[in-house]
Amino acid sequence: MGNLRNRDLKTQWWLVLGASSSLGRAFAEAVARRNGSIILAGRNLAILEEQADYLRQKYPSVIVVVQIFDSSLALSRRSLVRFCQRQVPAGKLNIFLGFAHYAGQIAIEESLELATAVLDTSLTQAALIMLEFIPLLIASPGGRVIIVSSVSGERGRARNYIYGAAKAGLGVVASGLRARLHPHGVSVLTVKSGLLSKSDAPVTGLRGLLAAPPKAAAEVWINASLSGRNSLYYPWFWRWISMAIWLIPEALFKRLKF
Ligand SMILES: NC(=O)c1ccc[n+]([C@@H]2O[C@H](COP(=O)([O-])OP(=O)(O)OC[C@H]3O[C@@H](n4cnc5c(N)ncnc54)[C@H](OP(=O)(O)O)[C@@H]3O)[C@@H](O)[C@H]2O)c1
Repeated sequence: MGNLRNRDLKTQWWLVLGASSSLGRAFAEAVARRNGSIILAGRNLAILEEQADYLRQKYPSVIVVVQIFDSSLALSRRSLVRFCQRQVPAGKLNIFLGFAHYAGQIAIEESLELATAVLDTSLTQAALIMLEFIPLLIASPGGRVIIVSSVSGERGRARNYIYGAAKAGLGVVASGLRARLHPHGVSVLTVKSGLLSKSDAPVTGLRGLLAAPPKAAAEVWINASLSGRNSLYYPWFWRWISMAIWLIPEALFKRLKF
């Protein structure tokens, strides 16, 4: 397996979907630290350009390009695939799928438009973009895909069952994609992520204990992907919390308010 921390990704390209989020930024930088080439994709070109400039200055030997991408538009999904076809040398594509639309359950129950945005963006559009990329991934043996799911998808809770449903569905998409791409030598990592902080600055209190900084998350996730892992709870303790949540009988679970 070698030392993953220092693995050189010089010949590899990573498409970062959801590049503007703190997680997307941290992930792109984890690729840059390994000399990989990067495509930053998102809806706000100015933010992506600013991010690309930062990476180019800090990692002068790394290639960083940006591409406007709105997952809700079929045309935009198709042009991203065509862009990658032109930009990425044959067989060198890897994908980090980190975009989503989050909203809390109270707001969702007051707005069906919000419910639609959460389900459409976090599940339907995430599945559609992966479907569009299947031919390019099949042509990239040794390629890696990381799909960011969430521990919210483990079991439907009163406080976030719509976002949780989207993430649970995305987990099924990731699992199917893993089986679909395995014969072609492409590995798919599902990350069941717990709470992440918005920056790497220290956070105090319970949130500080539970929330993982994006830089540390990105490092663990890219290493897990490079080592060919199938799935990962992050931080590690969520495996045990999730197991405990699964063990609660439904008769009791339905009474819980969390
Ligand atoms: N934050 C947490 O505690 C946590 C916990 C578990 C899992 N996660 C997962 O981790 C990932 C990142 O979470 P986050 O909280 O850091 O995200 P965030 O700050 O809410 O950012 C969402 C990202 O998704 C992109 N996006 C949203 N709608 C899009 C669309 N229609 N087309 C293209 N891109 C779109 C946004 O890009 P633009 O707006 O720039 O286009 C942005 O980069 C998500 O998959 C989330 O579900 C987060």
